[in-house]
Amino acid sequence: MKCSRCKATACVSLPSHHSGFCPDCFKLFFTRQVETAVRREKMFTRDERILVALSGGKDSLALMLELSSQGYDVTGLHIDLGIPDSSEKARAKVEAFCASRGLRLEVFEMAKWGLPIPDVKRFSTRPVCAVCGKLKRHHFNRIALAGGYDALATGHNLDDEVARLFANTLRWDVGYLSDQGPALPAREGFVRKVKPLFRLSEFETANYAFLQGIEIHSDPCPYASGASFTGHKELWGELEHRSPGQKFQFYQGFLQRGRRAFAALDKAEGDVLAPCTACGSPTNAGVCSICRIRESIREKKLEAGEA
Ligand code: AMP
Ligand code: FES
Ligand code: ZN
Repeated sequence: MKCSRCKATACVSLPSHHSGFCPDCFKLFFTRQVETAVRREKMFTRDERILVALSGGKDSLALMLELSSQGYDVTGLHIDLGIPDSSEKARAKVEAFCASRGLRLEVFEMAKWGLPIPDVKRFSTRPVCAVCGKLKRHHFNRIALAGGYDALATGHNLDDEVARLFANTLRWDVGYLSDQGPALPAREGFVRKVKPLFRLSEFETANYAFLQGIEIHSDPCPYASGASFTGHKELWGELEHRSPGQKFQFYQGFLQRGRRAFAALDKAEGDVLAPCTACGSPTNAGVCSICRIRESIREKKLEAGEA
């Protein structure tokens, strides 16, 4: 197969784009997709400061490299979850990546904050991944606001977004359906959130990370039963195989037509938020759910004679 752009030997075939690319033209394709995402969704400008959440996986490191190559003002944020072995390895990959490329990095340690994820696993009655995700989002937002950043960027790709949209649709979850998208504007207590890789598939970000020689942390989380939405991702893999481009069309159709309709439905149910009386984060419940989780685990640890 020949590269669709320069006619050299192609290394990547992209049926959904009716194209194949050689390494250099694939990197250019990737850059163009990120540029289009940032421009069309008005994610940020070159005058703004962007905090990029870095897990150590292929998506977030690819995103950081691409945004810095495009001249954006980026700083990485890694949350060290405190999971023995796994978190040390992930953190080491992020630190080595940023150091070797001269990129700024902030590291936040859950253990120093008093709640390493192994404690959540032991003492919370709720699924550890759900609580962990909630805690991460809380700290992304809090650290971005405290540091005066204009936007918080995550490495979510098209497969992540489609799987989440599909799950929300199966439940007709109007709240989430009106609030899902690649760029969520800032509002009182919440920083702007953006996903500049939303036009690129998992396969494409993996290829980019490989071609750029990025050393990634690829071990799955020891507490997760699999990647999030694994079953839905498999279903979509099958649909995409039969009809290349369908994944993107489904998501794009939602952004252009679906989301507006759900936003209208959801308006009536909008929550009134006020700062948490303990930590100041926006909540509709006096003390926010993060502070309640932290307190309840602290009490259980005390009862177990461990704190
Ligand atoms: P995941 O939900 O694990 O697929 O992660 C989605 C995105 O969240 C990643 O692409 C990162 O941008 C961000 N992320 C996940 N875990 C961490 C972490 N421990 N520290 C910083 N960012 C993270
Ligand atoms: Fe959060 Fe595994 S439980 S990453
Ligand atoms: Zn709180």
